[in-house]
Amino acid sequence: MSSTSVSPQALAINGGSPVRSTLLPYGRQSVDEADIQAVVEVLRSDWLTTGPKVGEFEEAFAARVGAAHAVSFSSGTAALHAAAFAAGLKSGDEAITTPLTFAATANCVLYQGAVPVFADVIGDTINLDPEQTKGKISPRTRAILPVDYAGHPGDLHSILEIARKHGLVVIEDACHALGAEYRGQRVGGIADMTVFSFHPVKHITTGEGGMVTTNHAQFAETLRRFRNHGISSDARQRQSAGQWHYEMVLLGFNYRLPDIVCALGIQQLKRLDANLARRREIAVQYTAAFREIPGVIPPTVRPEANPAWHLYPIRLDLEKLSADRAQIFRALRAENIGVNVHYIPVHLHPYYRDRFGYQGGEFPVAEDAYARLISLPMFHAMTDGDVRDVIAAASKVCEVYAR
Ligand SMILES: Cc1ncc(COP(=O)(O)O)c(C=O)c1O
Repeated sequence: MSSTSVSPQALAINGGSPVRSTLLPYGRQSVDEADIQAVVEVLRSDWLTTGPKVGEFEEAFAARVGAAHAVSFSSGTAALHAAAFAAGLKSGDEAITTPLTFAATANCVLYQGAVPVFADVIGDTINLDPEQTKGKISPRTRAILPVDYAGHPGDLHSILEIARKHGLVVIEDACHALGAEYRGQRVGGIADMTVFSFHPVKHITTGEGGMVTTNHAQFAETLRRFRNHGISSDARQRQSAGQWHYEMVLLGFNYRLPDIVCALGIQQLKRLDANLARRREIAVQYTAAFREIPGVIPPTVRPEANPAWHLYPIRLDLEKLSADRAQIFRALRAENIGVNVHYIPVHLHPYYRDRFGYQGGEFPVAEDAYARLISLPMFHAMTDGDVRDVIAAASKVCEVYAR
C-alpha cells in the first residue's frame, strides 16, 4: 500500500491505520537469475573454494575501486582483522577510531592485542574528527581507522596528513562506502588499506564476505597469507605447480571467501553502478522532503564527497519535538517503516565499559548524535512508492509530535 496523505490521521501506535500494510525493511539484498546461475555453475565445477572465481572477483573489484590489489575475506570483520594484522598492530600498540561505528571496527584492534582509542566525531558528517584524532596520538599509536559513516567518506585528506606526519597506517573502514568518492577519487585506493563488507544490506552481497584493497604489494601479500593460515601459497597454486610443499610463515586464520560466493560477487559487482544510482536518487528525494519537515535534520553532504548512501540516517531536532528518539522510533515502526539506529557508540557497550571503564560522557558529539539518530529504509530495490511511504510516515509522526 502506498499513501502520501499525512494528516490528520491518528498514529498507528495510537490505534490509527499504518502508512503501510507490510513492514518495509531498512535494507535488503537484490539477487537476480544471473546471480543464481553463476552460483549454480560454480557448484557444478571442480573448485568450490580457492579456485579461479576468487582471483576473478578480486581483480574486478580492484579495477572498480581503483586500487592495485584486492584481497577477499569471509567477512568484513575478518577483513578488518587482517588489515589490523598487516598494519603491524600488536600488544602495547594503540589505534585511533570513532566510537560511532559498528563494534567490529574497534574489535579488530583488540583481536591483535592492541587498544582501540576513541576520538570524538565531527558534528556535520559524524565521521572521525581529525582535530580530536591529533589529540589522541601517543608514542604507542600505530594506526588510525576512520569509518565512512553511512557511506559518506571520512575527512581522509586530513587523516592521511596526520598519519604521514606520525608514521601511522590508515585503515579506512569503508564497509558502508563501496562506490563512494572523495575529492573525485574512488574510495578503495586512497587509504593505506580500505575494508569493505558484502553483508546483504550492503551495496553488493556475497551473503557474508569482505575485501581489503591496497596499493601496497607488501600489505597485499601479508593479507593473502593471513587469510590462509599464514601459508605462503594456496592449494591451486600448488596443484598447478605439481608441488606438495608449503610453508606456514605467520600465524593466520582460515578467512577465505569461497568460489561459490565469489561468483555471486562478480555478478553483483556488475550492478554496482545501477545500485549506487538508485540509492543516490532516493537520497535526493528524501533530502528534498525532509528539509521541509520540522523535527528532521537530513544528513550533511560535504562538497568534496559523493556518498554511497549505505544508510540514510536522519537526526531528530529534539528541541522541536515533544517526543524522544525511542518514541519516534516506535511510532515509525508502528507505521510499518523498518527504522534502525546506527550506532550505539562502541564505548557504551558493556564489554567496553567493563574493560576500559567508560561511563558515558567521554565523547559528547557522538553521544549527542546517537540520541537523535534514526536510519530510514535505504536500499537499491526500493520503489518510488516505498520512498513516498517513508516520507509520509516521517511527516505524519513528526507533525503529531511537533512542539
Ligand atoms: C562500519 C562497519 N564495519 C565493519 C562491519 C563488519 O562487516 P561484516 O558484517 O561483513 O563482518 C560492518 C558491518 O555491518 C560495518 O557496518
